[in-house]
Amino acid sequence: MKPRKIREGVFWMGAVDWERRLFDALIPLPDGTSYNAYLVQGSEKTALLDTVDPSKAEELLEQLKNMPRIDYIIAHHAEQDHSGSLPLVLRKYPEARVLATAKGVGMLRDHLLIPGERFQAVEDGQALSLGGKTLRFLHTPWVHWPETMSSYLVEEKTLFSCDFFGSHLATTDLYADEARVYEPAKRYFAEIMMPFRAQIQKNLEKVEALELSLIAPSHGPVYAKPEFILSAYKDWVSSEPRNQVIVPYISMHGSLQAMVNRLVGALVDRGVQAEPYDLSVTDIGKLATAMVDAATVVFGTPAVLGGAHPHVVSAAYLADALRPKALFATLIGSYGWGAKLAEQVQGLVSHLKVEFLPPVLCRGFPREEDFKALEVLAEAIAQKHRERNLS
Ligand code: FEO
Repeated sequence: MKPRKIREGVFWMGAVDWERRLFDALIPLPDGTSYNAYLVQGSEKTALLDTVDPSKAEELLEQLKNMPRIDYIIAHHAEQDHSGSLPLVLRKYPEARVLATAKGVGMLRDHLLIPGERFQAVEDGQALSLGGKTLRFLHTPWVHWPETMSSYLVEEKTLFSCDFFGSHLATTDLYADEARVYEPAKRYFAEIMMPFRAQIQKNLEKVEALELSLIAPSHGPVYAKPEFILSAYKDWVSSEPRNQVIVPYISMHGSLQAMVNRLVGALVDRGVQAEPYDLSVTDIGKLATAMVDAATVVFGTPAVLGGAHPHVVSAAYLADALRPKALFATLIGSYGWGAKLAEQVQGLVSHLKVEFLPPVLCRGFPREEDFKALEVLAEAIAQKHRERNLS
């Protein structure tokens, strides 16, 4: 694609990656993604804001082919999907300086082996005049690495936020269709940002202090109505979960499936929204998204070689790493000859600030008393949610 004009002297550049289906060799990308760079031309100087994933470097260089000079490359974030083409762009523009936070300079040197003389560290609040266009740098750490920053183009009231507010969504829409981008943006938040909710809250306050007409992230479309994504983020980072239970589980021979079906039905009977996630088929991004709002996580596992099923171990590890706002957790399980399933899974989620409710375990296929125990668990969860006035 050619550069696309956003404002006078401000252009979207970059690449839409329609086919990419995996990020970090971990995160599913059902909707592809994009790597957005931006060009800001003042009357005296020109700045390129971020680059693109190295796999798309040629597309960026093609967009820059008629650009005789770049004075500054603003590297908001050192991760390679934005910085990976920096060495090629720096080779094309030997006069260009790379501007980043001090931490960013160190990380870019480590990851891309760029010589130190090409860099200039910028402070929080520092301004850069391009001639009639002023970029003000906002340090926005932990969205989602420690070195991240954003740039505010003062005259156009535009925030270039890099990963912050981004979405993995391949689209030719320059501006966000809000109904379409909401789910990919929430999924992105869940996978990338959720562990840093406290820091994001502080960064949101910084952003909200700005007068904004556009938010231009480095993945997915530009927000022409910044309030849409700001209010979504405020909801996602808030500490108040919803009246929801998620049940990530594995069933090998039907016992767990019967337990999950009973528990989900019993929760719904009590006015609690409940969603089972069969980990043999669930995309982990979908599970992570469900964790953004859920008040309770119930892991379901059969015993495998004396412990939880590896898929459940993996889901518990993921939940522990993503630090969702859940308040309660527990386990339902089935075993043949004994296993410490609850102790194992409780240990795996030790970083979560959850109350671990009494688990329900049965030997073999659940009997009537086991189903009754699941009804008791459903009532206990519903009661906990009622006490918190969750809606
Ligand atoms: Fe889009 Fe953290 O890189």
